[in-house]
Amino acid sequence: MSRIYARIAGIGHYVPPARLTNHDLERIVETSDQWITERSGIKERRIASIDENTSDLGYKSALKALEDAGMKAEDIDFIVSATNTPDMIFPATGCLEAAKLGLKAPCFDVQAGCPGVIYALEVARAFIESGIYRNVLVITSEVLSRFVNWKDRTTCVLFGDGAASYVLTASSEPGFIGSCLSGDGSLGDLLKFPAGGVREPASEYTVKNHRHAVFMQGREVFRYAVSYMAKASLKALERSGLSPQDIDWVVPHQANKRIIDATMDKLGLPHEKAYVNIDKYGNTSVATIGIALSEMKEKGLLKRGQNVLIVSFGAGFTWGAIVFRY
Ligand code: UT7
Repeated sequence: MSRIYARIAGIGHYVPPARLTNHDLERIVETSDQWITERSGIKERRIASIDENTSDLGYKSALKALEDAGMKAEDIDFIVSATNTPDMIFPATGCLEAAKLGLKAPCFDVQAGCPGVIYALEVARAFIESGIYRNVLVITSEVLSRFVNWKDRTTCVLFGDGAASYVLTASSEPGFIGSCLSGDGSLGDLLKFPAGGVREPASEYTVKNHRHAVFMQGREVFRYAVSYMAKASLKALERSGLSPQDIDWVVPHQANKRIIDATMDKLGLPHEKAYVNIDKYGNTSVATIGIALSEMKEKGLLKRGQNVLIVSFGAGFTWGAIVFRY
């Protein structure tokens, strides 16, 4: 029997229309367009409206991915949803998205920092390659704007809201060809959302002290991100039997333009081979890679048969990379 591969049959993204520019932020915190642009590459980000939740963004992107795949919701066997900003602690956002799609199917959330997208795609791949499911919907969605401290200039300028979805299907043609997942939980304190869980349940103290918000030691995170994004990429390439030069596009997590450039340098690839759209959306965590891929497809940059490397790093720490033939 020939090998079963997981292949991307459809992809789509949704970002809320409201834009928050660096100049808008200059009126909220002590910052400048120049600092944000030079240190991160971000010019603006999208902000969900008050009645839009993570599952709404995810649902809208899922409809687009289904359309791109030429499928209906009932064709989907399994939903894997990646998010760090769930609508609620439970039920899982994946279940809420399934309900919006009118789909009664197995559904759950993967929570693994920004690389939750790589982890979710790997879960989907494993179920497809094992022959258990044929069509898997991977939804990546975040509403980070409700999880930042808008008085903390070191974090609030970085994040944005958005979603992207992938329909993965079983195929005799590759497909996902190599991957690498890794993590180091001992470094978790460098990037965290401290309160609202069992350790620090919501209280007057946690609210007053902005404990319900992203906390990050940026410089440290930056250092690890550069090192592990490159390492994961090289490992995934090795497992694919490909070299960096065989890759048509690197689509990296969009946390910082300088991290992307440093990763490309470590891979020995020109910066132009990385698709970068951080200027328009900021860091949308799990959604950055899918928004980029979907945008590339719309622009005609992503073509069937191309070799693509996706790679991410984030809270956990977790990191990972996948090489696929589109
Ligand atoms: O997606 C998950 C993974 N996340 C990441 O990978 C993010 C990794 N980290 C980064 O991208 C960068 O560390 C940041 C963009 C967050 C910060 O850039 P940096 O070059 O590492 O700046 P820094 O934290 O070392 O701060 C430099 C200076 C500080 O002032 P002093 O101490 O030198 O006087 C900060 O207080 O810049 C100051 N600063 C700001 N100034 C204007 C920090 N934030 C701002 C701001 N506007 N928004």
